[in-house]
Amino acid sequence: MAAVVDARRGRVWSQQGEGLELRPRYRWSVHRRSLFESWADDYDPAADLDFPFGDYERVLDRIAELAAQRRPPRILELGVGTANLTRKIRQRLPAAKIIGIDFSAAMLTRAREAVPDARFVVHDLRELPLPAVARACQVAVAAYVLHEFDDDFKVRLLSALLAETLEPGGVCIVGDVGFADVRSRDEARRALAEKWDPDEHYFAASEFVARASAQGLQIETERIGPHALVLVIEHAAMPPPPDST
Ligand SMILES: C[S@@+](CC[C@H](N)C(=O)[O-])C[C@H]1O[C@@H](n2cnc3c(N)ncnc32)[C@H](O)[C@@H]1O
Repeated sequence: MAAVVDARRGRVWSQQGEGLELRPRYRWSVHRRSLFESWADDYDPAADLDFPFGDYERVLDRIAELAAQRRPPRILELGVGTANLTRKIRQRLPAAKIIGIDFSAAMLTRAREAVPDARFVVHDLRELPLPAVARACQVAVAAYVLHEFDDDFKVRLLSALLAETLEPGGVCIVGDVGFADVRSRDEARRALAEKWDPDEHYFAASEFVARASAQGLQIETERIGPHALVLVIEHAAMPPPPDST
């Protein structure tokens, strides 16, 4: 299908019969991006002690701790926002090269002020492959951004990171709103109805792990408080070759 890129507005139009029509996933992306652009100046989840950010500081600390244990020379961060996680990583890994991606230029203006020696790039994570600058890292981290994507795309993005972007043997460390399984997520949705954002896709660990395992990913999940998870994702070990003797 023919596509026309309108870079100024960040949209892609596709040929539909005689006319051009804005493809729904880009229309969606434009809506979410403008939401974050306008949020950048007063974005402060650390001050929000309630759902969905009740476990925010602990999630960021755990991601930074797990990332630092691997001593990566190059680390990639997805959806950096105002660089709250980036700062924690910089404190633990003062010499690492940090590359951060976000589709909000306004968020990245604040991120650059917070961690001037990191490299920040505007890019929509729905656009794969990721830019070349993201390559050759050993660890990718993401806090409170994967809920932007449905489970299919989460698995696609993680698979692409492990297969194409990170160095072989790389690891993704993700922290986000999450629950043990679909049932407990449904219960929480009912209990937290007024605070629940229906546009976001929170993790249901059991079902997500099953789906990702079927695509060759191996995931360890760790519960952080009642509404948050940290996930460590790697390529599943290849089965040993069949005995040829
Ligand atoms: C809730 S904030 C989290 C920011 C930061 N990681 C933190 O924990 O404070 C989500 C961030 O992801 C970014 N984001 C959302 N969807 C994105 C996409 N499709 N591509 C790139 N960045 C995206 C937003 O601009 C925003 O900065």
